[in-house]
Amino acid sequence: MLANLPAVPDLHNNGLPSSDTNASLPISSVVNLDRGDTVLLESYWRKMSDECTVVIKGWEFLSYASDLRSVCWFMTPELRHAIKRLHALVGNAETHDKHIVIGNGSTQLFQASLFALSSSSSSSLSPADIPMNVVAAAPYYSGYPVETDIVRSSLYRWSGDALKYDKNEAYIEIVTSPNNPDGSIRRPMVNNKCGGEGKLIHDLAYYWPHYTPITHKANHDLMLFTFSKCTGHSGSRIGWAIVKDIEIAKKMTTFIVMNSIGVSKESQTRAAKIMKVVCDSYENFRFGSKESVELFFEYSRRLLKERWEKLREVIKQSDDFILPKFQRAYCNFTNESSETYPAFAWLMCEKDQDCTSYLDKEMKVLARSGNRFGCDPRYARINMLTRGDDFDEFLKRLSDIKDLSCQM
Ligand SMILES: Cc1ncc(COP(=O)(O)O)c(C=O)c1O
Repeated sequence: MLANLPAVPDLHNNGLPSSDTNASLPISSVVNLDRGDTVLLESYWRKMSDECTVVIKGWEFLSYASDLRSVCWFMTPELRHAIKRLHALVGNAETHDKHIVIGNGSTQLFQASLFALSSSSSSSLSPADIPMNVVAAAPYYSGYPVETDIVRSSLYRWSGDALKYDKNEAYIEIVTSPNNPDGSIRRPMVNNKCGGEGKLIHDLAYYWPHYTPITHKANHDLMLFTFSKCTGHSGSRIGWAIVKDIEIAKKMTTFIVMNSIGVSKESQTRAAKIMKVVCDSYENFRFGSKESVELFFEYSRRLLKERWEKLREVIKQSDDFILPKFQRAYCNFTNESSETYPAFAWLMCEKDQDCTSYLDKEMKVLARSGNRFGCDPRYARINMLTRGDDFDEFLKRLSDIKDLSCQM
């Protein structure tokens, strides 16, 4: 059955056995760096195990509802407060005078956004019988095309690369910044000269200080964030949208109610607790407490930086691959100039027209092909947030390949 599933978002391992339990990998085993799983940060949460423990009693959370005064009535006030506090701490998004809608991951919110934006469109460029075009500049996150088209909606349809969009029709552009897969900082790309009327979804899943300098407070009409990429808790399935227009927020809420009648309160409680622990530790630090555990974003950034430096070192010795370079920028959160350390490495293969099959054939490393991101198969995406054993084994196999090609 699994093999028949469409190649949907980052989590599916395409039916292959998980490498989670591999302590040391024999060369014959596959290293799976295709998935977008976020287990790198597990080591931090192990250190914070007691602080983050949540106890839920048998009588709690029986109701679907949480706060009937809020547009998103199934969101707990604790989670709303924690989300606002986290953004205020990091300074990455404006939440003042905005509505927050939560979903089962930002995957559900993405679909809720498409529904809300396309069903609210009343322009002559989007007559009722023409689905709105959904575009993103390539390389775009591989989940967008399949998530857009899965139900073959009559309201919207996937229309590919935003840079090639030339229809005189209404469209929705997804702006992912920093971008998955290539880590680039982005702005809207559709060339508006073609006259189409556009709406924007800003997917800011990776706009957190461990991945990129926080250069400004994002203040767009519809912004998506996810607990998965912020703290690494993908399994809790919590995402949130920050929405300017109350009518759009209401429609998104309706979509989620029709889809899953809200979001698990157990997950909401856990997410609120973890966000509170992050915020409290920064506050305590600012008030002079000498905490023995490193602060969350500093710790995560350090791990990612170490991985990127090791990878760049190995790639430097190789004639086979090229990695993107990133400009330094001043981070308002850390108050220093810093580099970008994306969650994925976007590898370009010089040796082969097909980077994924080269990695698979030569190293038994599974990566996600560039063509899944609307791009050339010479590119492949490598997950940088994977388990340490898998990452180290990947580096070892990369170095071995390099040594082999030197001997030839
Ligand atoms: C850019 C982007 N948006 C959304 C998602 C989905 O996140 P969630 O786990 O919240 O559904 C991902 C997951 O990899 C992503 O990379």
